[in-house]
Amino acid sequence: MRFGLDFGTSNTSLAVNDGTSTRVLPIDPLAGETMPTVLYIRSDGSALVGRPAIEAYLEDNRTRGPLRREFQMLGIRMASSDKEQPTVEAHIYTDLSAPGRLFQALKTFLGDPLETRTNVFGSAKGLEELIALILAHVRMRAKELTGVAPEEITLGRPVRFIGAKDADERATTRLRSAAYLAGFRNVRFVAEPVAAAHAAETAIGTSLVFDFGGGTLDLCIVRRDERGVAVMATAGGPIGGDRATELLIDEVVAPRLGSRAEWGPKRLRLPRYIVNALRDWHALSALNEKPLLDALDDLVRAGAPKRELAALRSAIELQLGYDIFQRVDAMKCELSSAASAILSYHHADVDVDARATRGRFERLIAALLGEIEALIADVLRDAGLAPDDIVEVVYTGGSSAIPAVRALVKRMLPFASVKDAAAFTSVAAGLAMPGVEEATAGAR
Ligand SMILES: Nc1ncnc2c1ncn2[C@@H]1O[C@H](COP(=O)(O)OP(=O)(O)OP(=O)(O)O)[C@@H](O)[C@H]1O
Ligand SMILES: [Mg+2]
Repeated sequence: MRFGLDFGTSNTSLAVNDGTSTRVLPIDPLAGETMPTVLYIRSDGSALVGRPAIEAYLEDNRTRGPLRREFQMLGIRMASSDKEQPTVEAHIYTDLSAPGRLFQALKTFLGDPLETRTNVFGSAKGLEELIALILAHVRMRAKELTGVAPEEITLGRPVRFIGAKDADERATTRLRSAAYLAGFRNVRFVAEPVAAAHAAETAIGTSLVFDFGGGTLDLCIVRRDERGVAVMATAGGPIGGDRATELLIDEVVAPRLGSRAEWGPKRLRLPRYIVNALRDWHALSALNEKPLLDALDDLVRAGAPKRELAALRSAIELQLGYDIFQRVDAMKCELSSAASAILSYHHADVDVDARATRGRFERLIAALLGEIEALIADVLRDAGLAPDDIVEVVYTGGSSAIPAVRALVKRMLPFASVKDAAAFTSVAAGLAMPGVEEATAGAR
Protein backbone atom coordinates (compact mmCIF):
# COMPACT_ATOMS: atom_id res chain seq x y z
CA MET A 1 0.00 0.00 0.00
CA ARG A 2 1.18 3.53 -0.82
CA PHE A 3 0.08 6.49 1.29
CA GLY A 4 -0.03 10.13 0.15
CA LEU A 5 -0.40 12.91 2.68
CA ASP A 6 -1.32 16.48 1.81
CA PHE A 7 -0.51 18.60 4.87
CA GLY A 8 -2.24 21.82 3.82
CA THR A 9 -2.30 25.24 5.40
CA SER A 10 -6.06 24.96 5.98
CA ASN A 11 -6.88 21.32 5.28
CA THR A 12 -5.13 17.98 5.44
CA SER A 13 -6.01 14.79 3.61
CA LEU A 14 -4.67 11.29 3.25
CA ALA A 15 -5.04 8.85 0.36
CA VAL A 16 -4.06 5.22 -0.08
CA ASN A 17 -3.26 3.29 -3.24
CA ASP A 18 -3.40 -0.51 -3.17
CA GLY A 19 -1.78 -1.07 -6.56
CA THR A 20 -5.02 -0.89 -8.52
CA SER A 21 -6.98 2.07 -7.21
CA THR A 22 -6.65 5.16 -5.04
CA ARG A 23 -8.98 6.02 -2.22
CA VAL A 24 -9.11 9.15 -0.04
CA LEU A 25 -9.61 8.20 3.60
CA PRO A 26 -12.16 9.86 5.91
CA ILE A 27 -9.50 10.79 8.47
CA ASP A 28 -11.69 13.30 10.26
CA PRO A 29 -14.52 11.61 12.16
CA LEU A 30 -16.70 14.71 11.73
CA ALA A 31 -15.46 16.43 8.55
CA GLY A 32 -14.59 13.28 6.59
CA GLU A 33 -11.87 13.40 3.92
CA THR A 34 -11.02 17.08 4.37
CA MET A 35 -9.63 17.49 7.87
CA PRO A 36 -9.07 21.06 9.04
CA THR A 37 -5.36 21.47 9.85
CA VAL A 38 -6.11 22.55 13.39
CA LEU A 39 -4.62 21.46 16.69
CA TYR A 40 -6.12 22.18 20.09
CA ILE A 41 -4.18 21.51 23.26
CA ARG A 42 -6.21 21.64 26.44
CA SER A 43 -4.72 22.96 29.66
CA ASP A 44 -4.47 19.35 30.94
CA GLY A 45 -2.09 18.63 28.05
CA SER A 46 -4.45 16.50 25.95
CA ALA A 47 -4.44 17.22 22.22
CA LEU A 48 -7.24 17.15 19.67
CA VAL A 49 -6.92 17.42 15.89
CA GLY A 50 -9.23 18.46 13.05
CA ARG A 51 -12.92 19.26 13.33
CA PRO A 52 -13.18 17.70 16.84
CA ALA A 53 -10.44 20.14 17.91
CA ILE A 54 -12.48 23.09 16.64
CA GLU A 55 -15.65 21.82 18.31
CA ALA A 56 -13.85 21.30 21.62
CA TYR A 57 -12.25 24.74 21.42
CA LEU A 58 -15.55 26.47 20.73
CA GLU A 59 -17.36 24.48 23.42
CA ASP A 60 -14.65 25.12 26.04
CA ASN A 61 -14.81 28.81 25.31
CA ARG A 62 -18.59 28.93 25.44
CA THR A 63 -18.53 27.38 28.88
CA ARG A 64 -15.34 28.87 30.25
CA GLY A 65 -15.35 30.70 33.56
CA PRO A 66 -14.20 34.27 34.09
CA LEU A 67 -10.71 35.34 33.19
CA ARG A 68 -8.24 34.75 35.97
CA ARG A 69 -4.96 36.55 35.44
CA GLU A 70 -1.90 35.64 37.42
CA PHE A 71 1.79 36.32 37.29
CA GLN A 72 3.66 33.54 35.62
CA MET A 73 7.43 33.35 35.99
CA LEU A 74 9.31 32.65 32.79
CA GLY A 75 12.46 31.28 34.42
CA ILE A 76 14.83 33.85 32.88
CA ARG A 77 16.31 37.04 34.30
CA MET A 78 16.21 40.33 32.45
CA ALA A 79 17.98 43.65 32.89
CA SER A 80 15.95 46.19 34.84
CA SER A 81 16.15 49.98 35.12
CA ASP A 82 16.00 49.73 38.93
CA LYS A 83 19.46 50.51 40.37
CA GLU A 84 18.83 48.53 43.54
CA GLN A 85 17.88 45.49 41.54
CA PRO A 86 19.86 45.32 38.26
CA THR A 87 18.12 42.16 37.06
CA VAL A 88 14.63 40.86 37.65
CA GLU A 89 13.02 37.53 37.00
CA ALA A 90 10.95 37.89 33.83
CA HIS A 91 7.24 37.28 34.21
CA ILE A 92 4.04 37.77 32.33
CA TYR A 93 0.62 38.54 33.68
CA THR A 94 -1.42 36.01 31.84
CA ASP A 95 -4.80 34.32 31.72
CA LEU A 96 -4.11 31.05 33.49
CA SER A 97 -7.70 29.92 33.32
CA ALA A 98 -7.71 29.68 29.50
CA PRO A 99 -9.14 26.26 28.72
CA GLY A 100 -6.69 25.50 25.92
CA ARG A 101 -4.68 26.80 23.00
CA LEU A 102 -5.64 26.51 19.39
CA PHE A 103 -3.12 26.30 16.55
CA GLN A 104 -3.91 26.77 12.89
CA ALA A 105 -2.05 27.55 9.66
CA LEU A 106 1.09 25.98 11.17
CA LYS A 107 2.44 25.28 7.69
CA THR A 108 2.93 29.02 7.11
CA PHE A 109 5.58 29.15 9.85
CA LEU A 110 7.68 26.26 8.54
CA GLY A 111 10.08 28.53 6.63
CA ASP A 112 10.36 31.11 9.40
CA PRO A 113 13.98 31.71 10.52
CA LEU A 114 12.94 32.15 14.15
CA GLU A 115 13.29 29.00 16.25
CA THR A 116 10.36 29.96 18.40
CA ARG A 117 9.02 27.67 21.03
CA THR A 118 5.49 28.23 22.17
CA ASN A 119 4.61 27.98 25.82
CA VAL A 120 1.75 25.50 25.98
CA PHE A 121 0.61 25.31 29.58
CA GLY A 122 4.06 25.19 31.04
CA SER A 123 5.82 23.07 28.41
CA ALA A 124 7.69 24.74 25.59
CA LYS A 125 6.80 23.22 22.24
CA GLY A 126 8.64 23.75 18.98
CA LEU A 127 6.85 23.97 15.64
CA GLU A 128 7.97 20.45 14.67
CA GLU A 129 6.42 18.99 17.80
CA LEU A 130 3.12 20.75 17.20
CA ILE A 131 2.98 19.57 13.58
CA ALA A 132 4.05 16.08 14.68
CA LEU A 133 0.94 15.87 16.89
CA ILE A 134 -1.20 16.44 13.79
CA LEU A 135 0.76 14.00 11.61
CA ALA A 136 0.76 11.32 14.34
CA HIS A 137 -2.98 11.66 14.55
CA VAL A 138 -3.28 11.15 10.79
CA ARG A 139 -1.03 8.10 11.01
CA MET A 140 -3.17 6.64 13.78
CA ARG A 141 -6.29 7.21 11.68
CA ALA A 142 -4.61 5.43 8.76
CA LYS A 143 -4.13 2.44 11.05
CA GLU A 144 -7.75 2.53 12.20
CA LEU A 145 -9.07 2.80 8.64
CA THR A 146 -6.75 0.43 6.77
CA GLY A 147 -5.13 -1.73 9.45
CA VAL A 148 -1.69 -0.37 8.53
CA ALA A 149 0.24 2.34 10.38
CA PRO A 150 2.34 3.58 7.45
CA GLU A 151 6.09 4.02 7.82
CA GLU A 152 6.59 5.15 4.23
CA ILE A 153 4.86 8.33 3.20
CA THR A 154 4.79 10.63 0.19
CA LEU A 155 4.27 14.13 1.54
CA GLY A 156 3.15 17.08 -0.53
CA ARG A 157 5.09 20.30 -0.51
CA PRO A 158 4.34 23.66 -2.14
CA VAL A 159 6.54 24.55 -5.09
CA ARG A 160 7.93 27.26 -2.80
CA PHE A 161 7.33 27.42 0.92
CA ILE A 162 6.34 30.81 2.32
CA GLY A 163 9.34 32.87 3.43
CA ALA A 164 12.62 34.33 2.28
CA LYS A 165 15.20 32.70 0.00
CA ASP A 166 16.35 29.99 2.41
CA ALA A 167 12.82 29.22 3.67
CA ASP A 168 12.49 26.22 1.42
CA GLU A 169 15.26 24.16 2.87
CA ARG A 170 14.36 25.07 6.44
CA ALA A 171 10.73 24.19 5.85
CA THR A 172 11.37 20.79 4.29
CA THR A 173 13.84 19.89 7.05
CA ARG A 174 11.32 20.82 9.70
CA LEU A 175 8.44 19.04 8.00
CA ARG A 176 10.62 15.96 7.66
CA SER A 177 11.51 16.01 11.37
CA ALA A 178 7.85 16.43 12.25
CA ALA A 179 7.06 13.36 10.14
CA TYR A 180 9.80 11.35 11.91
CA LEU A 181 8.51 12.45 15.30
CA ALA A 182 5.09 11.23 14.18
CA GLY A 183 6.46 7.76 13.45
CA PHE A 184 7.04 7.92 9.70
CA ARG A 185 10.41 6.53 8.69
CA ASN A 186 10.71 6.88 4.95
CA VAL A 187 9.59 10.33 3.84
CA ARG A 188 9.50 11.52 0.22
CA PHE A 189 8.38 14.95 -0.98
CA VAL A 190 6.50 15.72 -4.17
CA ALA A 191 5.35 19.17 -5.30
CA GLU A 192 1.64 19.53 -4.65
CA PRO A 193 0.54 20.60 -8.16
CA VAL A 194 2.52 17.73 -9.70
CA ALA A 195 0.52 15.35 -7.50
CA ALA A 196 -2.71 17.04 -8.57
CA ALA A 197 -1.68 16.63 -12.21
CA HIS A 198 -1.39 12.89 -11.61
CA ALA A 199 -4.76 12.63 -9.95
CA ALA A 200 -6.60 14.69 -12.57
CA GLU A 201 -6.65 12.86 -15.87
CA THR A 202 -5.16 15.80 -17.76
CA ALA A 203 -5.97 15.97 -21.45
CA ILE A 204 -3.55 14.82 -24.12
CA GLY A 205 -1.33 17.83 -24.82
CA THR A 206 -0.14 20.60 -22.52
CA SER A 207 -2.12 21.55 -19.41
CA LEU A 208 -1.79 24.04 -16.59
CA VAL A 209 -2.56 22.75 -13.09
CA PHE A 210 -3.76 25.61 -10.90
CA ASP A 211 -3.70 24.68 -7.20
CA PHE A 212 -4.90 27.65 -5.18
CA GLY A 213 -5.06 26.86 -1.46
CA GLY A 214 -5.15 28.74 1.81
CA GLY A 215 -1.43 29.54 2.01
CA THR A 216 0.05 29.29 -1.46
CA LEU A 217 -0.70 29.26 -5.17
CA ASP A 218 1.09 26.37 -6.89
CA LEU A 219 1.28 26.03 -10.65
CA CYS A 220 2.54 23.27 -12.84
CA ILE A 221 2.59 22.79 -16.60
CA VAL A 222 2.45 19.17 -17.69
CA ARG A 223 2.43 17.46 -21.04
CA ARG A 224 0.56 14.19 -21.42
CA ASP A 225 1.03 11.78 -24.30
CA GLU A 226 0.24 8.07 -24.73
CA ARG A 227 3.17 7.14 -22.46
CA GLY A 228 2.35 9.33 -19.50
CA VAL A 229 2.77 12.73 -17.90
CA ALA A 230 5.91 14.88 -17.98
CA VAL A 231 6.39 18.03 -15.92
CA MET A 232 7.55 21.01 -17.99
CA ALA A 233 7.64 23.78 -15.39
CA THR A 234 6.44 24.65 -11.91
CA ALA A 235 5.96 27.97 -10.12
CA GLY A 236 4.61 28.96 -6.75
CA GLY A 237 4.30 31.78 -4.30
CA PRO A 238 2.77 33.00 -1.05
CA ILE A 239 -0.52 33.92 -2.70
CA GLY A 240 -3.17 32.15 -0.63
CA GLY A 241 -6.84 32.44 0.15
CA ASP A 242 -5.99 33.28 3.77
CA ARG A 243 -4.74 36.63 2.53
CA ALA A 244 -8.09 37.32 0.93
CA THR A 245 -9.81 36.51 4.24
CA GLU A 246 -7.42 38.85 6.08
CA LEU A 247 -8.22 41.68 3.68
CA LEU A 248 -11.91 41.10 4.28
CA ILE A 249 -11.35 41.16 8.07
CA ASP A 250 -9.60 44.53 7.69
CA GLU A 251 -12.53 45.78 5.69
CA VAL A 252 -15.59 44.50 7.54
CA VAL A 253 -14.54 43.66 11.11
CA ALA A 254 -11.49 45.68 12.14
CA PRO A 255 -13.19 49.09 11.80
CA ARG A 256 -15.72 47.99 14.44
CA LEU A 257 -12.78 47.36 16.74
CA GLY A 258 -11.26 50.76 16.26
CA SER A 259 -8.88 50.21 13.33
CA ARG A 260 -9.95 53.40 11.59
CA ALA A 261 -10.75 55.51 14.64
CA GLU A 262 -8.99 58.84 15.15
CA TRP A 263 -9.22 60.95 18.25
CA GLY A 264 -7.94 64.10 19.88
CA PRO A 265 -6.40 67.17 18.26
CA LYS A 266 -3.42 65.12 17.12
CA ARG A 267 -5.72 62.65 15.37
CA LEU A 268 -4.24 59.69 17.19
CA ARG A 269 -4.85 56.16 15.96
CA LEU A 270 -4.38 52.66 17.30
CA PRO A 271 -0.86 51.34 16.77
CA ARG A 272 -0.55 49.28 13.61
CA TYR A 273 0.59 46.12 15.39
CA ILE A 274 -2.61 46.00 17.42
CA VAL A 275 -4.80 46.47 14.37
CA ASN A 276 -2.86 43.84 12.42
CA ALA A 277 -3.18 41.31 15.24
CA LEU A 278 -6.92 41.14 14.65
CA ARG A 279 -6.33 38.89 11.71
CA ASP A 280 -3.48 36.93 13.17
CA TRP A 281 -4.40 34.54 16.02
CA HIS A 282 -0.73 34.19 16.90
CA ALA A 283 -0.22 37.92 17.38
CA LEU A 284 -3.56 38.34 19.12
CA SER A 285 -2.55 35.94 21.85
CA ALA A 286 0.64 37.92 22.42
CA LEU A 287 -1.47 41.02 23.16
CA ASN A 288 -3.38 39.29 25.93
CA GLU A 289 -1.45 40.88 28.78
CA LYS A 290 -2.52 43.28 31.43
CA PRO A 291 -0.26 46.25 30.57
CA LEU A 292 -1.63 46.33 27.06
CA LEU A 293 -5.23 46.05 28.20
CA ASP A 294 -4.59 48.84 30.72
CA ALA A 295 -3.14 50.92 27.90
CA LEU A 296 -6.38 50.48 25.95
CA ASP A 297 -8.30 51.85 28.94
CA ASP A 298 -5.91 54.82 29.02
CA LEU A 299 -6.64 55.46 25.35
CA VAL A 300 -10.37 55.61 26.09
CA ARG A 301 -9.70 58.16 28.84
CA ALA A 302 -7.71 60.14 26.26
CA GLY A 303 -10.68 60.20 23.91
CA ALA A 304 -10.53 56.98 21.89
CA PRO A 305 -14.00 55.63 21.02
CA LYS A 306 -15.30 53.61 23.95
CA ARG A 307 -17.44 51.09 22.11
CA GLU A 308 -14.78 50.13 19.60
CA LEU A 309 -12.09 49.75 22.21
CA ALA A 310 -14.35 47.69 24.43
CA ALA A 311 -14.90 45.42 21.45
CA LEU A 312 -11.17 45.23 20.85
CA ARG A 313 -10.61 44.39 24.49
CA SER A 314 -13.12 41.53 24.28
CA ALA A 315 -11.46 40.19 21.16
CA ILE A 316 -8.08 40.16 22.89
CA GLU A 317 -9.19 38.87 26.28
CA LEU A 318 -11.40 36.13 24.89
CA GLN A 319 -8.99 35.37 22.03
CA LEU A 320 -11.66 35.68 19.38
CA GLY A 321 -9.16 35.71 16.51
CA TYR A 322 -9.90 32.21 15.30
CA ASP A 323 -13.63 32.66 15.62
CA ILE A 324 -13.57 35.93 13.68
CA PHE A 325 -11.31 34.44 11.02
CA GLN A 326 -13.65 31.50 10.47
CA ARG A 327 -16.74 33.70 10.26
CA VAL A 328 -15.15 36.02 7.72
CA ASP A 329 -13.70 33.06 5.82
CA ALA A 330 -17.23 31.68 5.48
CA MET A 331 -18.39 35.07 4.22
CA LYS A 332 -15.60 35.03 1.63
CA CYS A 333 -16.61 31.53 0.47
CA GLU A 334 -20.23 32.65 0.17
CA LEU A 335 -19.14 35.44 -2.17
CA SER A 336 -17.94 32.77 -4.62
CA SER A 337 -21.52 31.71 -5.23
CA ALA A 338 -23.59 34.77 -4.23
CA ALA A 339 -23.42 38.42 -5.28
CA SER A 340 -23.39 39.59 -1.66
CA ALA A 341 -23.04 38.15 1.83
CA ILE A 342 -23.88 39.24 5.35
CA LEU A 343 -21.77 38.83 8.44
CA SER A 344 -23.44 38.99 11.80
CA TYR A 345 -21.08 38.38 14.69
CA HIS A 346 -21.90 39.15 18.30
CA HIS A 347 -19.69 38.01 21.14
CA ALA A 348 -19.18 39.84 24.45
CA ASP A 349 -18.58 43.48 23.46
CA VAL A 350 -17.98 42.71 19.80
CA ASP A 351 -20.92 43.63 17.59
CA VAL A 352 -20.49 43.31 13.88
CA ASP A 353 -23.23 43.46 11.28
CA ALA A 354 -21.74 43.91 7.87
CA ARG A 355 -22.61 43.29 4.25
CA ALA A 356 -20.12 42.82 1.46
CA THR A 357 -20.67 42.53 -2.26
CA ARG A 358 -18.63 40.46 -4.63
CA GLY A 359 -17.60 43.62 -6.44
CA ARG A 360 -16.19 45.09 -3.24
CA PHE A 361 -14.36 41.86 -2.48
CA GLU A 362 -12.85 41.83 -5.96
CA ARG A 363 -11.54 45.35 -5.49
CA LEU A 364 -10.01 44.27 -2.17
CA ILE A 365 -8.10 41.41 -3.76
CA ALA A 366 -6.98 43.34 -6.85
CA ALA A 367 -3.31 43.15 -5.82
CA LEU A 368 -3.57 39.37 -5.26
CA LEU A 369 -5.05 38.98 -8.73
CA GLY A 370 -2.09 40.90 -10.11
CA GLU A 371 0.32 38.51 -8.40
CA ILE A 372 -1.56 35.53 -9.81
CA GLU A 373 -1.30 36.97 -13.30
CA ALA A 374 2.45 37.47 -12.91
CA LEU A 375 2.94 33.90 -11.64
CA ILE A 376 1.06 32.43 -14.60
CA ALA A 377 3.23 34.50 -16.95
CA ASP A 378 6.33 33.14 -15.13
CA VAL A 379 5.38 29.51 -15.50
CA LEU A 380 4.52 29.92 -19.17
CA ARG A 381 7.86 31.60 -19.80
CA ASP A 382 9.76 28.88 -17.91
CA ALA A 383 8.04 26.21 -19.97
CA GLY A 384 8.82 28.16 -23.15
CA LEU A 385 5.15 28.21 -24.10
CA ALA A 386 2.65 30.72 -25.41
CA PRO A 387 -0.85 31.00 -23.87
CA ASP A 388 -2.36 29.30 -26.90
CA ASP A 389 -0.27 26.17 -26.29
CA ILE A 390 -2.27 25.35 -23.15
CA VAL A 391 -5.16 23.04 -24.03
CA GLU A 392 -6.58 22.61 -20.55
CA VAL A 393 -6.60 24.26 -17.12
CA VAL A 394 -7.09 21.94 -14.15
CA TYR A 395 -8.37 23.70 -11.04
CA THR A 396 -7.82 22.40 -7.53
CA GLY A 397 -7.57 23.92 -4.03
CA GLY A 398 -10.40 25.67 -2.21
CA SER A 399 -9.53 29.18 -3.39
CA SER A 400 -9.84 28.21 -7.04
CA ALA A 401 -13.60 28.65 -6.55
CA ILE A 402 -13.21 32.45 -6.53
CA PRO A 403 -14.94 33.67 -9.73
CA ALA A 404 -12.55 36.61 -10.28
CA VAL A 405 -9.63 34.17 -10.27
CA ARG A 406 -11.25 32.00 -12.92
CA ALA A 407 -12.12 35.04 -15.00
CA LEU A 408 -8.48 36.13 -14.88
CA VAL A 409 -7.21 32.71 -15.98
CA LYS A 410 -9.81 32.63 -18.74
CA ARG A 411 -8.61 36.02 -19.97
CA MET A 412 -5.01 34.83 -20.02
CA LEU A 413 -5.69 31.38 -21.53
CA PRO A 414 -8.80 31.93 -23.66
CA PHE A 415 -8.48 28.70 -25.63
CA ALA A 416 -7.96 26.28 -22.77
CA SER A 417 -10.81 24.06 -21.64
CA VAL A 418 -11.55 23.84 -17.93
CA LYS A 419 -11.44 20.79 -15.70
CA ASP A 420 -12.22 20.69 -11.99
CA ALA A 421 -10.20 18.22 -9.94
CA ALA A 422 -11.48 17.44 -6.44
CA ALA A 423 -10.71 20.76 -4.75
CA PHE A 424 -9.62 19.42 -1.38
CA THR A 425 -8.37 15.91 -2.09
CA SER A 426 -6.75 15.73 -5.52
CA VAL A 427 -3.27 16.46 -4.13
CA ALA A 428 -3.44 13.63 -1.58
CA ALA A 429 -4.81 11.24 -4.21
CA GLY A 430 -2.00 12.10 -6.62
CA LEU A 431 0.64 11.71 -3.91
CA ALA A 432 -0.52 8.14 -3.28
CA MET A 433 -0.31 7.17 -6.96
CA PRO A 434 2.64 5.12 -8.19
CA GLY A 435 5.00 7.00 -10.49
CA VAL A 436 4.37 10.43 -9.03
CA GLU A 437 7.95 10.75 -7.71
CA GLU A 438 9.53 9.92 -11.07
CA ALA A 439 7.59 12.69 -12.78
CA THR A 440 8.97 15.20 -10.29
CA ALA A 441 12.52 14.22 -11.06
CA GLY A 442 12.13 16.04 -14.37
CA ALA A 443 10.78 19.19 -12.70
CA ARG A 444 13.08 21.98 -11.72
N1 LIG B 1 -16.04 28.37 -2.12
C1 LIG B 1 -14.89 28.98 -1.83
N2 LIG B 1 -14.61 30.20 -2.33
C2 LIG B 1 -13.45 30.83 -2.04
N3 LIG B 1 -12.51 30.29 -1.24
C3 LIG B 1 -12.74 29.08 -0.73
C4 LIG B 1 -13.92 28.34 -0.99
N4 LIG B 1 -13.86 27.17 -0.33
C5 LIG B 1 -12.68 27.16 0.32
N5 LIG B 1 -12.01 28.31 0.09
C6 LIG B 1 -10.70 28.68 0.61
O1 LIG B 1 -9.78 27.69 0.25
C7 LIG B 1 -8.69 27.69 1.18
C8 LIG B 1 -8.42 26.27 1.61
O2 LIG B 1 -8.16 25.53 0.46
P1 LIG B 1 -7.29 24.20 0.49
O3 LIG B 1 -7.84 23.26 1.49
O4 LIG B 1 -7.15 23.76 -0.90
O5 LIG B 1 -5.92 24.81 1.02
P2 LIG B 1 -4.70 24.02 1.67
O6 LIG B 1 -4.37 22.86 0.82
O7 LIG B 1 -5.00 23.75 3.10
O8 LIG B 1 -3.58 25.15 1.62
P3 LIG B 1 -2.17 25.13 0.86
O9 LIG B 1 -2.27 24.19 -0.30
O10 LIG B 1 -2.00 26.56 0.43
O11 LIG B 1 -1.19 24.72 1.89
C9 LIG B 1 -9.12 28.59 2.33
O12 LIG B 1 -8.46 29.84 2.19
C10 LIG B 1 -10.62 28.75 2.12
O13 LIG B 1 -11.10 29.96 2.60
MG1 LIG C 1 -3.21 22.55 -0.82
